[in-house]
Amino acid sequence: ATVTYDFNVTWVRANPDAQFERDVIGINNQWPLPPVTATVGDRLIVNVENQLGNEPVTIHWHGMYMNGTTDMDGAAGVSQCEIPPGGAFTYNFTIDQPGTYWYHSHVRGQYPDGLRGPLIIHDPDSPFADHYDEEIVLTLSDWYHDSMPNLLSSFISVTNPTGAEPVPQAALMNDTQNLTVSVEPGKTYMFRMVNMGAFAAQYVWFEGHTMQIVEVDGIYTEPADAEMLYITAAQRYSVLVTMKNDTSANFAINGAMDQDLFDAVPDGLQSNVTGWLVYDQANENPAPTLVDEYNWFDDFTLVPQDGEDLYDNVDYTVSLDLKMDNLGDGANYAFFNDITYVGPKVPTLYTALTTGDSATDAVVYGGNTNPFILEHNQVVEIILNNNDPGKHPFHLHGHAFQLAYRSDEEAGPYVGNATADYPAKPMRRDTVLVKPDGHIVLRFKSDNPGIWLFHCHIEWHVASGLIATMVEAPLLLQNSLSIPPSHYDTCRASNTPFEGN
Ligand code: C2O
Repeated sequence: ATVTYDFNVTWVRANPDAQFERDVIGINNQWPLPPVTATVGDRLIVNVENQLGNEPVTIHWHGMYMNGTTDMDGAAGVSQCEIPPGGAFTYNFTIDQPGTYWYHSHVRGQYPDGLRGPLIIHDPDSPFADHYDEEIVLTLSDWYHDSMPNLLSSFISVTNPTGAEPVPQAALMNDTQNLTVSVEPGKTYMFRMVNMGAFAAQYVWFEGHTMQIVEVDGIYTEPADAEMLYITAAQRYSVLVTMKNDTSANFAINGAMDQDLFDAVPDGLQSNVTGWLVYDQANENPAPTLVDEYNWFDDFTLVPQDGEDLYDNVDYTVSLDLKMDNLGDGANYAFFNDITYVGPKVPTLYTALTTGDSATDAVVYGGNTNPFILEHNQVVEIILNNNDPGKHPFHLHGHAFQLAYRSDEEAGPYVGNATADYPAKPMRRDTVLVKPDGHIVLRFKSDNPGIWLFHCHIEWHVASGLIATMVEAPLLLQNSLSIPPSHYDTCRASNTPFEGN
């Protein structure tokens, strides 16, 4: 089937934490944003009209493989030009993957101003279809009172030489601090959880109820019980939760932002958010129980339901050394291999399509885009050394990668591991946490020609340049895709440079 949405993007007013009303980016004069839902096999068409008046937009479909449609990936300066104020763009792609995803602006620093919502792909053949009665989408996020353009100008500035990230004012669940979920005794619900935040990971747990994990970032898992999850910005989990047969009490659903991410914890921070499983309206909603120690479920212990083996015989290794440092201007930036990403004026995809055989030469993409040229159908390994005392959630567009290895914090850089330490059937996902001063090893197959960013999903670090570009099989792309020349010219003439810094 074809599923069509018309998105009129405009400013609206909202006050999700009940502390402060502000302008946010809405769709069709609504905010919170509507979930986009479709079924595996559908074609999704989204007609976007940018009526913001003062800012460009794009929409990225986080986690979609976009096989054959990398030009619909929505990354500004990468797969398309920004949609200027007054402009329009139609996203049109088919979906052949089930699961819990989200959509968000992929113009520098913009989505925390509101342009983010859930994207749910239903699966009539889900192995878990008979395991639950109803599903409920549960979004998590952090929330800022100030606008991103303001916050970004003080974040990347000589007055902030350490690169301290702005701390949000509140944690939200379904874009409120006050969520109630009516439940029926004995029923099993599938909660589809999405962290749409800009910065903060959240610990999530249900009081008095165990979660059973069945899906992570669109990949079904062998069911695994968990008491508490750690959900970074951009990660998703589907969990089954069975209700008690007794309606005499309501229970808290807890979200707690990971304060280790914050350089300082300001007064008045609403760091926790509570929702309630309401068995009976007549019951009082109990105060949440705080915990001093967070014991969260390790996603590297999961097993994918399809039992896919670890890819062996690595063909190509992408080595990335992360650091945060000052440039000559005194402001703090983020670097992979000593390069801080600066987006090109011409989207990387257009360069790949228009440079003939030279498209396999990294030089044509400009050194500031941190390009890696991948050949078709190879086993690619990413080794990332986090030489920084912060936690970072890394995301790859266009793929789910195998979680081969994650070191503990302070383990230092990768020195060559025994593959024997890797799981035989590693979990796959599209966003993964790297621990402070630790390293990580990921693998994927380059079976999806396209231009795919690999970046930290903390929006501050996107702005400060923590991005690399995977240019996957560019010659195959030239055979299968063309960008209308009129679009290319418009883009060149009107596109403001994608400001990586
Ligand atoms: Cu959720 Cu580059 O994106």
